[in-house]
Amino acid sequence: MQRPLAVVTGASSGIGEALALRLGSAGYDLLLVARREALLTELSARIVREHPEVRADVFALDLCTDDAAQKLLDRAPTASVLVNNAGFGKVGEALSIENGVYEQMIALNVAALTQLTLTFARRMVERGGGTILNVGSTSGFQPIPFQAVYAATKAYVMSFSEALSYELRGKGVSVLGLYPGPTKTGFSEIAGAQEHAKKHARVFMSADAVAALAMDQIKTGKESVVAGKLNAVAATLSQLGPRKAARRVAAAIFKPR
Ligand SMILES: NC(=O)c1ccc[n+]([C@@H]2O[C@H](COP(=O)([O-])OP(=O)(O)OC[C@H]3O[C@@H](n4cnc5c(N)ncnc54)[C@H](OP(=O)(O)O)[C@@H]3O)[C@@H](O)[C@H]2O)c1
Repeated sequence: MQRPLAVVTGASSGIGEALALRLGSAGYDLLLVARREALLTELSARIVREHPEVRADVFALDLCTDDAAQKLLDRAPTASVLVNNAGFGKVGEALSIENGVYEQMIALNVAALTQLTLTFARRMVERGGGTILNVGSTSGFQPIPFQAVYAATKAYVMSFSEALSYELRGKGVSVLGLYPGPTKTGFSEIAGAQEHAKKHARVFMSADAVAALAMDQIKTGKESVVAGKLNAVAATLSQLGPRKAARRVAAAIFKPR
């Protein structure tokens, strides 16, 4: 029997790496995507060592370059799972963030994710089925001062995924949204939030715990999952009260000291 193929973006570290390991264990062949080829190659070797039956190919690609989505589809036209996980954030006053960072963030978190989702969804509909898992964030549940653009990109991921999921009902293709909260990965360092991460270390989940929830979600097809009970409660509370109150709380948490 042919093994199912999963494409994982941002597989060179963090949640993507952990999810690739779990997908390999669960019987998927893999196309591992990110820019740091050496890390992808190492991961591929580890997966094949642990599961010699798995084919784990590597595709070093900057997802913000032209035609990235089409290039990826050309490499994996039979993919039954696409995980749009690559993404990054930046913490600080919006006006102090250096030029180009926000363009890059929107290009990756919003534009590339959209293009990949639509490109693969079209093919999956033609083929009669598939699952697309978009990794958003609990940051997308409310506006977050000092994370203004990142939180907005993740609000987009949620809105886009939910709307497209509705459009694709009855077409065999599921569009799922996974919303992790603070997770121990390379994210905090890239976001310039190491101090914040150190201070709040006790609420951070492991990348593998988030990946385990993602695996369940892929299996069950649950449309929307907030990773972890604490994050789920916080996400729900942020929706119940006035939006301005949620913004005030978020500002207090993320205000640079
Ligand atoms: N960690 C958290 O606290 C947290 C919380 C909520 C949501 N999330 C979301 O979870 C997802 C995964 O992040 P993570 O926490 O696992 O962080 P991470 O360890 O920094 O992983 C980010 C991944 O994205 C890849 N990537 C970045 N820019 C790319 C580009 N232009 N083209 C291709 N790949 C690119 C990176 O690989 P290369 O550098 O090799 O390209 C890396 O594999 C992100 O969407 C993030 O927003 C994270």
